Amino acid sequence: MAKPSAPRPPATPDLKTAHDLEPVLPMTAEVCDGHLCIGGVDTVTLAREAGTAVYVMDEATIRHQLREYVKWTTYHWEHVAVVYAGKAFMSLAMVKMVAEEGCCLDVSSGGELAFARRAGFPMERIYVHGNNKTPAELAECLEAGVGRIVVDSFEEMERLSAMAAERGVSQRVLLRITPGVEADTHDFIITGAEDSKFGFGLNQGLAMQAVERAIALPGLDFDGLHMHIGSQIFALHSFAKAIEVIVEFIAEIKGRTGVEVRMLDTGGGLGIAYGLPDEPSTIKDYGKVVVDGIKEECERHGLTVPAMAVEPGRSIVANAGVTLYTVGSVKEIPGIRTYVAVDGGMSDNIRTSLYDAHYEALIANKADQPREMVATVAGKHCESGDIVVNDAPLQHVDVGDILCVCATGAYCQSMSSNYNKQVRPGVALVNEGSWRWIVRRETYDDLMKCDVE
Ligand SMILES: Cc1ncc(COP(=O)(O)O)c(C=O)c1O
Repeated sequence: MAKPSAPRPPATPDLKTAHDLEPVLPMTAEVCDGHLCIGGVDTVTLAREAGTAVYVMDEATIRHQLREYVKWTTYHWEHVAVVYAGKAFMSLAMVKMVAEEGCCLDVSSGGELAFARRAGFPMERIYVHGNNKTPAELAECLEAGVGRIVVDSFEEMERLSAMAAERGVSQRVLLRITPGVEADTHDFIITGAEDSKFGFGLNQGLAMQAVERAIALPGLDFDGLHMHIGSQIFALHSFAKAIEVIVEFIAEIKGRTGVEVRMLDTGGGLGIAYGLPDEPSTIKDYGKVVVDGIKEECERHGLTVPAMAVEPGRSIVANAGVTLYTVGSVKEIPGIRTYVAVDGGMSDNIRTSLYDAHYEALIANKADQPREMVATVAGKHCESGDIVVNDAPLQHVDVGDILCVCATGAYCQSMSSNYNKQVRPGVALVNEGSWRWIVRRETYDDLMKCDVE
């Protein structure tokens, strides 16, 4: 999924304090009495009250990001749906915030759909993804009356058509197209082979076949196209290139079938700052490139401008979240490195082990002190690769300190596991000076609840 961000210079003590870490922290982060505060809550107090490890999410940042997307996409064209990608982070409270902000929701499994249903999310605002939706999941979607299903394969199309027709309904569908443009973090590559498990490739003619089939099949209402070119994308010209390709395909569809594509969904992927050297594009610039880009390309081809959708995940929640841990040991290997071990690890953040992701970290109870040493933040799991942050500049670390890893709001809790029968941390939502659990910490009983004796 995501690739690491900008190339990193060798880590040195950088003498930075929490004030300098503003680009990677929630927008309400500040230093109060030497402690890191988020949403008006002292994270050190929160850690003591809630216990560690704990994910902390800032409500103000989440809502701000959702509003930025709505503002800067509809600024250019009123018919743009902002579809939050629930895979980045999902809880009932999160789903409710997405609903309250007037956004739509992308679900990628029956489980994510179940969250949306339980939270009372409006079903017409649901977009369903997945390259292998099971028949049971498709049945759940039809029963729930979801707005759009993004069809990923011919088999799924036939299956969905039969199931919808049998129920006497017409299901609105988008087709996921692989445009042959793949975004690298800083650039794009045209991939001739379109080697992807997702969607219908343009270059081998599969996409046109899929469109013709979707138009012809009963039970399906062909609404338009979807694409998703990658994640943690910094280079907006990657989106522009993919838009050029897909709008040309829309023109071909019209020429060949006479059918106008009603909706174009360009997926998610906008990058965020994980490290201080990262310089992601703004939502404002993204909105212009994507929405104006589609309008201009449509104009060039003489097409009616379709409704649009964008599907941000990471850029809504990543910088809204941090993880707080307690330091349990500090091991200095002279001439080699210092390991700081925390009470969590790859079970609550797999991204470092999985794709060498980089994070900024700080000591929350020494937030206004300079980061004067470099250490590797290690987890407590039985794997040497259980690292949370490699070579992190940190304030002087003592056992018992509260260590904060920044920008962990996306793809950490949602990709967490119970490896080593570790209980998953809870999620504390902070806002205007108080905090509450939106996901409570697991218990040992939770770990055993599915076991059959
Ligand atoms: C289809 C689809 N839409 C949206 C997203 C969200 O992407 P991001 O979190 O990079 O914005 C993903 C992420 O994998 C995706 O697969």
